[in-house]
Amino acid sequence: MNKNSKKLITADDPGWYKDAVIYQLHIRSFFDSNNNGIGDINGVTAKLGYLESLGVTAVWLLPFYPSPLKDDGYDIADYYGIHPDYGTLNDFKRFLREAHLRGMKVITELVLNHTSDRHEWFQKSRNAPKGSPWRDYYVWSDTPDKYNGVRIIFQDFETSNWSWDPVAKAYFWHRFYSHQPDLNFDNPQVRKEMFKVIDYWMEMGVDGMRLDAVPYLLERDGTNCENLPETYDFLRQLRSHLDKKFKNRMLLAEANQWPEDAVAYFGKGDICHMAFNFPLMPRMFMALQMEDWFPIVDIYEQIPPIPEECQWAIFLRNHDELTLEMVTDEERDYMYKVYAHDHTARINLGIRRRLAPLLNNSRRRIEILSLLLFSLPGTPVIYYGDEIGMGDNYYLGDRNGVRTPMQWTGDRNAGFSTANPQKIFLPVIIDPDYHYHSINTENQEKSLSSLLWWIRRIIAMRKQHKAFSRGGIKFLHCENQAVLAFVRRFRG
Ligand code: NOJ
Repeated sequence: MNKNSKKLITADDPGWYKDAVIYQLHIRSFFDSNNNGIGDINGVTAKLGYLESLGVTAVWLLPFYPSPLKDDGYDIADYYGIHPDYGTLNDFKRFLREAHLRGMKVITELVLNHTSDRHEWFQKSRNAPKGSPWRDYYVWSDTPDKYNGVRIIFQDFETSNWSWDPVAKAYFWHRFYSHQPDLNFDNPQVRKEMFKVIDYWMEMGVDGMRLDAVPYLLERDGTNCENLPETYDFLRQLRSHLDKKFKNRMLLAEANQWPEDAVAYFGKGDICHMAFNFPLMPRMFMALQMEDWFPIVDIYEQIPPIPEECQWAIFLRNHDELTLEMVTDEERDYMYKVYAHDHTARINLGIRRRLAPLLNNSRRRIEILSLLLFSLPGTPVIYYGDEIGMGDNYYLGDRNGVRTPMQWTGDRNAGFSTANPQKIFLPVIIDPDYHYHSINTENQEKSLSSLLWWIRRIIAMRKQHKAFSRGGIKFLHCENQAVLAFVRRFRG
């Protein structure tokens, strides 16, 4: 057991998420324990020792529920089950137990905004008469003109937020793919269903939930249907429900918004405990490329202070594209020009690349951004594989290029699985610069100068000083624009 994780994370510490080091992984991409070509829960359990030795104190799992997997599991068909490809409920319970025994917390996904169109609720809704309780589970309209002007998020794939359903003979509302109808949060029954879902997983022992796509829960005429007061009210209800029944749990908002709106997901400390710092993320990349502290210091001036018990989650990359939704048009043009010259690397309003390839595989550049990740205010979230500098493959379509199998060894299928290579759910990375023969954990374990060991040491260093996880920040003015200097201070 890692000494540091014991010291910082105790079962009774309600602020555990502040001192955490979160590791984000996709079950199907991590390790295949039964050699069918798809990663599974038992595979993740088998690799807990690796995560512990890295210094990780919390694991965030991408959606693992039954799903047609048309949006990689964010299209849920049943909130109470486990996708058969990934294992069973008992496998999950064992994983939870084993993680807890190692002092690690487990964070799962709560996709509130929408379901898969295969979900039983949607099937009932589309078949139910207009105005009936079941029809009211989703957002329906006779015309596609309602809520005109609301932006389309997946703009490379969808042309409208409305789709015609021939069964219901009406249009249904969806902020994402047209197979992901939005639930109707004006319906108290829908709210109750979601409380039941939370209770189910929290009772099992889950420590935290990431609230997917949380700004879009409600719709109102004449608005952009994002960050509505009604949405914050519902989330406040959800938080108070959680607090009444459970201790020391955490809600993490995925709200890709401008600073003022993103901060509002903390409320007065009565909504979410954490929220991703979306405004900061692209500005770290900008500052690095411009060799200028301005983008970072400037965004901190725009981000309002947050309540004492709350905490930002900071990240460099994740399973989605590097989003450029919340930057100005000039900033987006700049980012595309310097980080995605090849148009194939672009998707929607972002860049579908991993950390190492974004930074041209430059160890120094990876180190400098990682230093920011581990030293700016907030809890760092590491995306699986980035600790060894994994490459990507943007020819794979959608965002699959950054979700390929974890590279453990130089053996068949990168040590991810012993299945026939043709059976693997996504091909392993064979780009010459990032080939699994050389980029894998086994190689990097052996060399103390590897990126893996470097990340391990940075994590250990961070854990020794609470100023990193709990302290305030003061930027120092540097005449030399290329030097970013700041002080983190905690209780003197
Ligand atoms: C945000 C998730 O991160 C993304 O992967 C997904 O496609 C959308 N929400 C829709 O659920």
